[in-house]
Amino acid sequence: MPQTKQMLQQCVADTPIQIRESEHGLLILDINTELCSASMALQGAHVMTWQPKGEAPVLWLSPDAKLEKGKSIRGGIPICWPWFGEHATESTFAAHGFARTADWELVSTSELAGGGIEVVMRLLDTQTEQWKYDTPVVIKVIFGRTLNIELTTTNQSNASIQLSEALHTYFNVQDVRQIKVQGLDSCEYVDKLEAYQRKTQQGAVFFKQEVDRIYINQSSNVVIQDKVLNRSIHINKQGSQSSIVWNPWLDKCKAMGDLGADDAYLNMVCVESGNAADNTVTLEAGGTHRLSVSYHLA
Ligand code: BG6
Repeated sequence: MPQTKQMLQQCVADTPIQIRESEHGLLILDINTELCSASMALQGAHVMTWQPKGEAPVLWLSPDAKLEKGKSIRGGIPICWPWFGEHATESTFAAHGFARTADWELVSTSELAGGGIEVVMRLLDTQTEQWKYDTPVVIKVIFGRTLNIELTTTNQSNASIQLSEALHTYFNVQDVRQIKVQGLDSCEYVDKLEAYQRKTQQGAVFFKQEVDRIYINQSSNVVIQDKVLNRSIHINKQGSQSSIVWNPWLDKCKAMGDLGADDAYLNMVCVESGNAADNTVTLEAGGTHRLSVSYHLA
């Protein structure tokens, strides 16, 4: 049974977390501390906003994001799980898996020494029509001046499973045409816009048109340099062999319907950390897999 607003309020009593309900019934945790302000929806365990105090927002949330039951929220950090992109064999299954629109449950909240707020949620039903395996998945998020996220999947079924996943993070940038993404030089990538051709990255990634790429065998850290905002966003990751870089550009932005104004694409870039394409994880029966990412500004 999904938790009610009252149940959540009891869970967060005596913490700097407030519970709010969106116009269309999504329950949202609002966090406000000396270190940061942030929000996280219970549906999808979706971190929507995160803003270290004194800084411009680090995450981008569409002004037209739909905060509705069963709809994916455009912006913040959707969780793609247990598959990334299209399902390998079933074209009618939801793109990026079902976790991002499913009910999650708040397990615990705590204030850590140093002022960070830890929030733990678990997916309520991991076995569905589209996924027959017993694979509990838990997310732990620590909200501070750094944002730490750990997504842990355990395979309790008696067969090995194929898992692909991503933290599909939308970052706020001043002008995507003036940023660069570093840390991907010499990496092989799958170009989704050119019939999934394999290519090799030369130098930093710049944005002059639509970009949709899966960088594979890429486990090192990534940095988004935003010279207009005069800052760099550092993405440090573990348990992730792929980075996905996406910007829809003008035509797709207009067509999508929930991205905001026609030029909203200029203010965002997705740099996603996960395991996709060749890096799909084989998780043996009884095994555990952990994807950890942390973001900070410098
Ligand atoms: C990216 C994919 O991860 O997500 C893109 O590489 C896709 O191909 C984008 O368009 C957004 O996906 P969705 O399902 O949230 O619209």
